[in-house]
Amino acid sequence: MTRTLVIANQKGGVGKSTSVMNLGVALAERGLRVLLIDLDPQGGLTAAFGIDTYDIRRSAFSLVMHSHISLARVMRPVRERVALVPASIDLAAGEIHLASKPDRALRLRQSLQRSRIPFDYILIDTPPGLGIMNANGLVAADEVFIPVQCQYLAMRGVRALMDTVVRIKNSINPTLRLCGLFGTMYRPESRHAQEVVDELRSVFGPKMFKTLIDYDDIVAEAPVAGLSMLEYMPRHPIAEGYRVLAEEVMRGRLNK
Ligand SMILES: Nc1ncnc2c1ncn2[C@@H]1O[C@H](COP(=O)(O)OP(=O)(O)O)[C@@H](O)[C@H]1O
Ligand SMILES: [Mg+2]
Repeated sequence: MTRTLVIANQKGGVGKSTSVMNLGVALAERGLRVLLIDLDPQGGLTAAFGIDTYDIRRSAFSLVMHSHISLARVMRPVRERVALVPASIDLAAGEIHLASKPDRALRLRQSLQRSRIPFDYILIDTPPGLGIMNANGLVAADEVFIPVQCQYLAMRGVRALMDTVVRIKNSINPTLRLCGLFGTMYRPESRHAQEVVDELRSVFGPKMFKTLIDYDDIVAEAPVAGLSMLEYMPRHPIAEGYRVLAEEVMRGRLNK
């Protein structure tokens, strides 16, 4: 059975795309077949794999706009056991084209349902905001996985996102559930960061993953080389952090 996770947080720059790439590679290291879908017109995930988002013929845009274009035609292998549906800049136009269509939020779900390609995990990366592409991600997924920056005010965005999740669950996607939240850009020396983590644990209890991904400027270097942290610096604590996080996700069981 495929597990489809949408990585969501309407705040930009919280580590969504970084987490999708590193988790995807970590799951593939464990022998699992992974599909990554980039729904962000900015194409941060696509660019991190060294692919130019201005030079793409078929992308996630084709998938949400044209029901006759199959997943097999838009995805491309990026690693052993990892395939990517890249973003292209015209995804931004997709928002406008789809705005008047009654099934606008169902497009990705429908194209994944039509596909017979076996994957163990599908990870959907979403843009900041709560627009049509975010809705497509939330409707196509079984579970929502939320990275939270370990900083003050992080909670505000999470509450708004949870409201959206409940709305989508009560309308179009009744089986949608919260996979969990995890802290990223964590600075162990910061008292504030610890307070944010404590608050998240007290609000979300077992839904807050035990693994925290540290902050390190080096994370910005890996995508320049077209690599995940697991490949760029395999023994770095952040690479190890994503491996442990992947295990937590795989266990599907959260630590109390
Ligand atoms: N753990 C981390 N430590 C330091 N910088 C990080 C970390 N995770 C991500 N970043 C950097 O923060 C920026 C935003 O990350 P990104 O994954 O693109 O966020 P989002 O997809 O939520 O907008 C990028 O420049 C990325 O390299
Ligand atoms: Mg991103």
